[in-house]
Amino acid sequence: MDGNGRWAVERGLPRIAGHRQGAQAVHDIVAAAPGLGVTALTVFAFSTENWKRPPDEVSYILHLFVSMVTKWLPELVSQHVRVRIIGDRAALPADVSASVETIEKRTVSCDGLHLNVALNYGGRAEILHAARAFAAECAAGTAAPEDLTEDRFDSYLWLWGEAPPDIIVRTGAESRVSNFLLWEMAYAELFFLDLLWPDFTPATLDMIVQKFKSRNRRFGSS
Ligand code: FPP
Repeated sequence: MDGNGRWAVERGLPRIAGHRQGAQAVHDIVAAAPGLGVTALTVFAFSTENWKRPPDEVSYILHLFVSMVTKWLPELVSQHVRVRIIGDRAALPADVSASVETIEKRTVSCDGLHLNVALNYGGRAEILHAARAFAAECAAGTAAPEDLTEDRFDSYLWLWGEAPPDIIVRTGAESRVSNFLLWEMAYAELFFLDLLWPDFTPATLDMIVQKFKSRNRRFGSS
């Protein structure tokens, strides 16, 4: 969801106004996604590298996420949206991690859209976390190295149980993947957009889904 800061600066607003507008864009996309055939949506809200930002901005982003999603909870439940947070929770402020648990518990039995929010997330950190979990089982004698398959490795990821993404979208006129879903995106179709995240609308998502349908996916075959 890149481009929030630039969206605000272009309007002479503080960067946090861009994050607020970006959160509103998430709200609108969540409401529209099921109607466009999207069954799972993973948004990158805060990366393991985002701690390098000024402390005020870090605190604002983390608390914006919990306050907005907490406010939307009744609506999310009525839309059957299941919310899951992926990332390293240990470093989150205590009030943020408590709210995250509440949000997950309230939506755990929802059987509609899967909304995964990456918070203190890094693709490399996720792979390390999975490798450590499997290594611990080997050390405990409950698994052996040759037991490890791609499917089993999936089960140690923060995004376990979710199908790999078909589509990855990067906004903000940058052509890089910035440590997002590195394991999961192996065969994803990539879309790099010039538009800034707050300008991303359901019509943008519709355009991407239509383009995705015309892509020829071969998964390595001829
Ligand atoms: C990147 O834009 C955006 C972020 C680091 C924060 C995104 C977080 C939200 C939109 C809030 C999350 C809320 C919900 C509901 C999931 P940037 O600041 O790097 O923009 P720039 O490249 O223009 O500076």
